[in-house]
Amino acid sequence: MEFENNLNLCKFIAQKIKENPQNRITFADYMNWVLYHPEYGYYTVNQPQFGATGDFVTSPYFGSDFGEMLAEQFVQMWEILDYPNPFTLVEMGAGQGLLASDILCFLKKQYPEFYSKINYLICEKSAFLKQQQQKQLKNLLNINQSIQWCDLETLKNETIIGCFFSNELVDAFPVHQVIVQNRQLQEIYITVDSETSIDVTFQETITELSTEKLTDYFKLIEIDLCSPAYAEGYRTEVNLIALDWIKMVASKL
Ligand SMILES: C[S@@+](CC[C@H](N)C(=O)[O-])C[C@H]1O[C@@H](n2cnc3c(N)ncnc32)[C@H](O)[C@@H]1O
Repeated sequence: MEFENNLNLCKFIAQKIKENPQNRITFADYMNWVLYHPEYGYYTVNQPQFGATGDFVTSPYFGSDFGEMLAEQFVQMWEILDYPNPFTLVEMGAGQGLLASDILCFLKKQYPEFYSKINYLICEKSAFLKQQQQKQLKNLLNINQSIQWCDLETLKNETIIGCFFSNELVDAFPVHQVIVQNRQLQEIYITVDSETSIDVTFQETITELSTEKLTDYFKLIEIDLCSPAYAEGYRTEVNLIALDWIKMVASKL
C-alpha cells in the first residue's frame, strides 16, 4: 500500500513536471505535493507519523510540560488584556491534537475561570489529522462546545482577541531552494531523471530564479548571498509562504 502510494505520488509529480513548458518544477512545488497531495501526501495519507513509533517526535510527545508552560503564558495574556471574554486561542497545524489536549486539560484543572472563557480554534490542513485531533479531544469536546475547526482564511479580519500559536508549523511550509553559482543567485528545480512503470527518479537542476519575490526576500532580510561572505555553492531555503502567513495572522488579530 505504502509502495503504491509512493509510486502514485511520484507519477503524479512526474506528470506535473512534464506539463511544465520547461520540464521542471520548483523545489517548493515538489515539497508541496510530497507533503500535501490530497491522496498521497505525507500529511494526508492514513499512516502513523508522530510519536515513538512514527517518523518523528515533537515537544508534546515528551510530556505535558510544554503545553502547560504555554498555558501559563495564555493566562498572563488574558490578564494583561483585562480578562476578555471570549479569549480565543487559535492553534495552527495541530498534528494529532496532543498539545491542544495538554493545554486544555491543564487550564481546566488549574485555571477554571479562564478555561470557561476560552474559545479554542484549530486550523488544520490535513483531513486525516483533523480526525485524529477530534479523537484525541473527544472527552473535552463532549463537555466543551467551544473547540472548533476552521480555515485561517475564513476568519474575519480584526476579530480575534487572544493568541495564534503553533508548534513546528512554519517549517512544514514548502520552501524554495536557492544556491550561489558564479556569484549569482540561482534556484534549484526538480526534473524527471528516469521513469518506468514501477519506478520514477528525480534529479535537481539549477537555473534562474522562478520569482522576483526571492530577490525581494533577501533585500528584506538584508542579506547579500552574492557577497564574498558566502562561498560558491552556498545553498539555503526561502520560506515565502511564511511571509504571507504572518501577514494573514496579523490581519485577524
Ligand atoms: C510537523 S507537524 C506539527 C504538529 C504539532 N503541532 C506537533 O507539534 O506535534 C505540522 C502540522 O502542520 C499542519 N499544517 C501544515 N501546513 C498547514 C497549513 N497551511 N495550515 C494548517 N495546518 C498546516 C500539518 O498537517 C501538521 O498537522
